[in-house]
Amino acid sequence: MQNYNFFFHIRPRKVPGQALRFTLTYGLGGAAALMIFVQLVTGLLLNFAYEPVSVHAYLSVQHIQTEQVYGKLIRNLHHWTGHFLVIVIYLHLLRVFFSGAYFGCRRRSWYSGLVLLLLVLLANFTGYLLPWDQLAFWAVTIASSMLPYIPVFGVFLQKLILGGAEVSEETLHIFHSFHTTLLPLTFLFCMFYHFWRIRKSGGIKIKKQSKQEILPVIPELMTRELAFAAVVLCFLLLFSMFIDAPLTAIANPNLTPVSVKAPWYFLWLQELLLHMQPTLALCVLPGAFAVFLTLLPFIDQTTEKPSKLTKLIMITFVSIIIILTITGIWFRGDGMKLVLPW
Ligand code: HEM
Ligand code: HEM
Repeated sequence: MQNYNFFFHIRPRKVPGQALRFTLTYGLGGAAALMIFVQLVTGLLLNFAYEPVSVHAYLSVQHIQTEQVYGKLIRNLHHWTGHFLVIVIYLHLLRVFFSGAYFGCRRRSWYSGLVLLLLVLLANFTGYLLPWDQLAFWAVTIASSMLPYIPVFGVFLQKLILGGAEVSEETLHIFHSFHTTLLPLTFLFCMFYHFWRIRKSGGIKIKKQSKQEILPVIPELMTRELAFAAVVLCFLLLFSMFIDAPLTAIANPNLTPVSVKAPWYFLWLQELLLHMQPTLALCVLPGAFAVFLTLLPFIDQTTEKPSKLTKLIMITFVSIIIILTITGIWFRGDGMKLVLPW
């Protein structure tokens, strides 16, 4: 077993038989890890042909799609995996929440998870601009125009992210560097820490039983994980083979489209802005949700299970976010007017 020393820092040698049950985790954490790996590999490949200068960025993406061997498939994979990743980690967060697996020694796994959530959103957001088409340009413009409504440091934050007052050549440089160097490195570090913390807290949370069957990770758990990884990969590949990532006309700062929407995972914030006073919209609900997620490991500590009230608060937040996102995607037409999707 000497050769596996590094591996066993993050994986145990033996696990209780109960921990093999699929319905305990639904494979969501593992699927997220696999998808990040897919992003690292496809991202590295795309970066060979991508040119992060505004006059060339769009053409280089077109070149990737039409001239490079499997270029279209690799771009589609990178695009769709990035988007599915957002859904998968939200589901993973909910699974961890409902199993009450964030108390005591699992607190650090929860917090490192929250950092990973932020990183996934940032990776998607910075990647979104890179194709430099109308969709990307205006989606990033509208999303970043929400920042100044954050009190005290909003304007500073906007300038820091965009490298100026609006989306420009400078923004493309900043987003590309962030997307391809700092973010992947931070990802690797945080993921390793996340896995190590899970290992340190005795693996995933299971019900305590007096008699427990103990099984070796290799092959019992490993074969199941590999089979599940194959299913997830097949799904991503098939999806990317049949559905192309969008690429609209080249970005034109002087031509505002009739309806400008933020990337779908930030649409609930844009939707809130249409209903409330901006500072209130961007601070009260998102701020309350962030505080709730941060304080969660300290609520209901004695019972180590989320109480009915805690569950109700979580379900309310999640329902509001889902309803606002669906409204933003399907029920907003030209000029962000409410329309029926059929
Ligand atoms: C890139 C994102 C993430 C990756 C790759 C990841 C990976 C994993 C894996 C592989 C596991 C063990 C198996 C499982 O529970 O499915 C796990 C467990 C865990 N994750 Fe994540 N995770 C991510 C994001 C998050 C987020 C957003 C949270 C919550 C804020 C979170 C909190 C936890 C906790 C508390 C556990 C321990 C659960 C237990 O003890 O049963 N993770 N994660
Ligand atoms: C979790 C990690 C990552 C996520 C979630 C992510 C997400 C994205 C997204 C959503 C896009 C826009 C795709 C499109 O519409 O065309 C994109 C583009 C891009 N990403 Fe990533 N990415 C990740 C990691 C990486 C890494 C590690 C690299 C390279 C080292 C990379 C390089 C690129 C390049 C060159 C593009 C522009 C090409 C294109 O748009 O097709 N990405 N990324």
